[in-house]
Amino acid sequence: MAPRRARVWCRLAAVALALAPPALRAAEGGSESEADARWITDAERAALCDGAAHPYPPHSRRPVRWVHVPKTGTSFMNTVWHYACSLPPTASASDFSAMYEKHFAQRFPPAEHCARLMLDHSPATHKPIGDGEWAAHAGAFVTMLRAPSTRLVSAFKHGRHCIQDCSPEMRNAPPCTAVRDARRLNKCRALRRATGLREYAEQPAALGCAARMLVGRACNEPLALRANESRAAAARLGSVGFGFVGLVEEWNLSVCLFHRLLGGTPRPQEFSAVRVNKQTTIIFRRHPDLARALRDPADELLYAVATRRFRRQVRAVLAKFAR
Ligand SMILES: *[C@@H]1O[C@H](CO)[C@@H](O)[C@H](O)[C@H]1NC(C)=O
Ligand SMILES: *[C@@H]1O[C@H](CO)[C@@H](O)[C@H](O)[C@H]1NC(C)=O
Repeated sequence: MAPRRARVWCRLAAVALALAPPALRAAEGGSESEADARWITDAERAALCDGAAHPYPPHSRRPVRWVHVPKTGTSFMNTVWHYACSLPPTASASDFSAMYEKHFAQRFPPAEHCARLMLDHSPATHKPIGDGEWAAHAGAFVTMLRAPSTRLVSAFKHGRHCIQDCSPEMRNAPPCTAVRDARRLNKCRALRRATGLREYAEQPAALGCAARMLVGRACNEPLALRANESRAAAARLGSVGFGFVGLVEEWNLSVCLFHRLLGGTPRPQEFSAVRVNKQTTIIFRRHPDLARALRDPADELLYAVATRRFRRQVRAVLAKFAR
């Protein structure tokens, strides 16, 4: 083919691809998603969770500080609380219909039940990491992260979330004592008034929630993240400061990895997610291009670090089984 005609064909092919339905465009990057699917086999998944074939290590007695990014699975509290506290074996977040942690804290006061293994993540559950506690509790931080676009949809669907839980290390007044102190809420109007998902997701306050929390700022604080903060958050997540990083999309495997790393055997209720938002799945099925349209660079960087770390740690556990 003559060079000029070849160029025209290339351009036409590019246009066709740009206009093609998302499925075809996804197929173009198929090798990557195939590699994604192949990172673990079904047999390996089963082995990671099989406590009979490969007993879980004994409880490590290492304290944990849960970094609860909003919309990443309140049910992870079943894992955190049963690991850190002595509770009736069947106690579960699903015993309640809302305010799960508040009810748990009332029924099983941590000072009596948790033997100092559950480091403070109050007064509300979404407490950002302060520099002081980061330095003092290396290795104790545990978290579950979720694909940012899905997390955004879930936050929007859940009353246009504006979560600005504080940490006592934040210098701004009023002091961080009350749960969700309305006086602390900072410019939530833009998020609350968003007419649709896109408008919500275009607010600086909606984006970078997980990254903000990792560097001591409130999830939905209205100021955009600086690039250096985004890098610092990713560095923290990838470091030994975190004892465990799980993925909401790999819930069961995450619960099993938590116990492979920190010890103890998972309880059945750790595998059941409360408040799973089926609407998110439905929305993405109806609008397959939406997931791609919702961009959250800081949290996407974080999620990529989380995914690499998670897979590496799962593979390391499996490699030990093989020996
Ligand atoms: C980011 O840079 C600003 C301005 O130079 C600085 O004040 C801030 O402490 C830095 N934050 C982090 C997490 O490195
Ligand atoms: C997760 O584990 C629970 C309990 O074993 C099981 O019922 C559920 O089907 C599992 N989910 C997935 C996606 O494998």
